[in-house]
Amino acid sequence: MVKDLSVTLSGVHLDNPVIPASGTYGFGQEFLPYYDINILGSLSFKGTTAEARFGNPTPRIAECHDGMLNSVGLQNPGVEHVIAEELPALRKVFHKPIIANISGFSVEEYVRCVELLTREEQVEILEINISCPNVRHGGMAFGTNPEAAADITRAVKQVATKPVYMKLSPNVTDIVSIARACEDAGADGLSLINTLLGMRIDLRRRRPVLANVMGGYSGPGIFPVALRMVYQVTGAVNIPVIGMGGISSARDVIEMMMAGAKAVQVGAANLVDPCACKKIIEELPQEMENLGIDRLSDIQRV
Ligand code: FUM
Repeated sequence: MVKDLSVTLSGVHLDNPVIPASGTYGFGQEFLPYYDINILGSLSFKGTTAEARFGNPTPRIAECHDGMLNSVGLQNPGVEHVIAEELPALRKVFHKPIIANISGFSVEEYVRCVELLTREEQVEILEINISCPNVRHGGMAFGTNPEAAADITRAVKQVATKPVYMKLSPNVTDIVSIARACEDAGADGLSLINTLLGMRIDLRRRRPVLANVMGGYSGPGIFPVALRMVYQVTGAVNIPVIGMGGISSARDVIEMMMAGAKAVQVGAANLVDPCACKKIIEELPQEMENLGIDRLSDIQRV
């Protein structure tokens, strides 16, 4: 039997649940030499702020067992450039729904970016990043406090004409309280998890490897943590969850969906193998066959 990989997020149809995670896929262009990116379910582009940002000083990558640390610092060309240059270029080569990942340092900045990006026809979901661990004052500061998370959610919902998914941080004691605060404030869905705050030390130099000292840990090592958090959150809210954190195979996708996720994002794996998403999508039908699954959307939370 032909396998049905399609899923739906807040009324948005995706041919399959595999979405490259923001910050690991740019605006898609670098992946064009490797495969036709139209096989993806969707694409979440690099976190965009109101103004262009150069990001943090280097080094801002450190390799680890089972993953990596990044302290990029929201490097991006700014929302107006994204709308004028990146989205038209992406539109030429990608014909699927786009997820706009939006970051900020104030409620007003999130609102400004949402006001602009919600008008873009191909942007079908707004993913509000309140979980970047690499910037002071903004990012994760909003996502580690239920009241602040709710404030941002309410503010962006007032101007959004597309579904709003709040992207949550794992760097909290109780992610369920943040998830519930976002749901109560009107979020249409949630994305989780962002990276785990980590650090490495260069033994010879006796200094932190990262110029920013700490960074976000991603990769297969965080998969069990992400799975646990997705399971906890999906047991507590009634809005769809996009699960992410260390996914690198079709089996991981199915496991994340058995934890309650309706779709998944693939992040660090794209940096190890540019064809990671393609391989996962191609492997899915055989894994579904092995597990007796005909439709991915039939998967129930365990
Ligand atoms: O530093 C960064 O640009 C990372 C962003 C994020 O993890 O949300």
